[in-house]
Amino acid sequence: MESENLMAVYLVCAIAALAGLLFGFDTGIISGALLFIEQGFTLSTVMKELIVSSVLLGAMAGSLLSGRLTDLYGRRRVILLISTLFILGTLIASLAPTVLAILIGRLCIGVAIGIGSYTAPLYIAEVAPLELRGGLVSLNQLAITIGIMCSYFINYAFTNTQGSWRLMFAIGLIPAVFLAIGMIFLPESPRWLIKQKRHEEARKILRRLRGKHNVAHELNAIENGLSVREAGLKEVFSATIRPVLFLGMMLGFLQQVTGINTIIYYAPTIFQLAGFQDSRSAILATAGIGVVNVIATIFAVLYLDKLGRRTLLLVGLVGMCLSLLSLSLAFQADSHTSYLRGIAVVSTFTYVISFAFSLGAMLWLLISEIFPLSVRGTAMSIAVFSCWFWNFIVSSTFLTLLNALEPTNTFLVYAVMCVIAFIFCYFKIPETKGVSLETIEDNIRRGLPLREIGQPAIPDKIAAKTYSG
Ligand code: BGC
Repeated sequence: MESENLMAVYLVCAIAALAGLLFGFDTGIISGALLFIEQGFTLSTVMKELIVSSVLLGAMAGSLLSGRLTDLYGRRRVILLISTLFILGTLIASLAPTVLAILIGRLCIGVAIGIGSYTAPLYIAEVAPLELRGGLVSLNQLAITIGIMCSYFINYAFTNTQGSWRLMFAIGLIPAVFLAIGMIFLPESPRWLIKQKRHEEARKILRRLRGKHNVAHELNAIENGLSVREAGLKEVFSATIRPVLFLGMMLGFLQQVTGINTIIYYAPTIFQLAGFQDSRSAILATAGIGVVNVIATIFAVLYLDKLGRRTLLLVGLVGMCLSLLSLSLAFQADSHTSYLRGIAVVSTFTYVISFAFSLGAMLWLLISEIFPLSVRGTAMSIAVFSCWFWNFIVSSTFLTLLNALEPTNTFLVYAVMCVIAFIFCYFKIPETKGVSLETIEDNIRRGLPLREIGQPAIPDKIAAKTYSG
């Protein structure tokens, strides 16, 4: 492909990945904003948890709507819709005269995040050329972490400004407006157009994206893919699909109950508990978390296909568990000396690094790989919903747990969840490195155990036996 057209594909994907950036930004910004909202309004623990988790409630609803909306209205129009929702929600939240208005604005942003967390990777996968698809889809997770990092730096930059939480929220308007403008000019997904029987438009767009006149081969491949019947709910819950659906839902569950968002959303609060006196230094330490999160995600994107999903996942889970244990120990000590503060910061950093190259990158990648084509849309949105649901449960109970169990035992609970996650992943996660999606689908339909659905096509002899049996 010519470099000019490669640039065009990268540009298209980068603009769509702004939805991932907004996902990261709007979920990350609350960690710092919360400290300042508290100064302006009297907030109970439950109300604070609600402010953090209103986005997640919206995201749950959004992820359930996403499959249907993208099928009916096309990927491009839905991304345009979410950019409008981002703008509207951000305006409501940053101008909010009451806590209720903050909640409504954040709910609206949440719906946009939930729809975007499904639609943006889908759109990217559909416009990307085959040989670049994996890397470009993982760019979305990278965009999420860049969004979180930007939000932390903005939190830090505004710490000395009066009423700064309003400005913190308002900065989110910039990527949202870029997303809206960008999507006006971006093409619709050729795959969706063909599904709508708009072949000529699809052909024109593919020619532009691929930089060549003859795109018949790719058009045929899309048509063949689409001839696979769209499955009804019955097939999604059939005996063949149930195990992978369970795997997807478990991945969403484990990604969240091992505690990542207690750090991402509440890091400054945790650092203050660990003895950081002023909110400024707590927020600065949090900005560091944002940076290592991005770096470790770049590592994951580069090495996923070389080191394999299982190795990264299992090593990362051990790292997460050990970091949580040391964080728990740091809080056990009575006095918060600078030595203990150091341990708390280092443990938080190693925890985030271990998460980023394991469960962070892996959830989004694996759920785009393990579902057979005919059930992919519905099954993916169920897995995405599971992730947002458990995110909501963990984030909305964290402060209550801290009060009831003290930080030491709270982090111990998440460490135990890492042990459970390790055992589950050890026995159930398949290695999908270098295996085509068709082979994975074939293995699922043959009823292979979950851990083996990523094995290369089985030897002919066994295959023959399986088929004749
Ligand atoms: C998770 C988010 C998390 C982020 C942190 C994503 O994969 O789904 O819940 O905040 O990673 O980088």
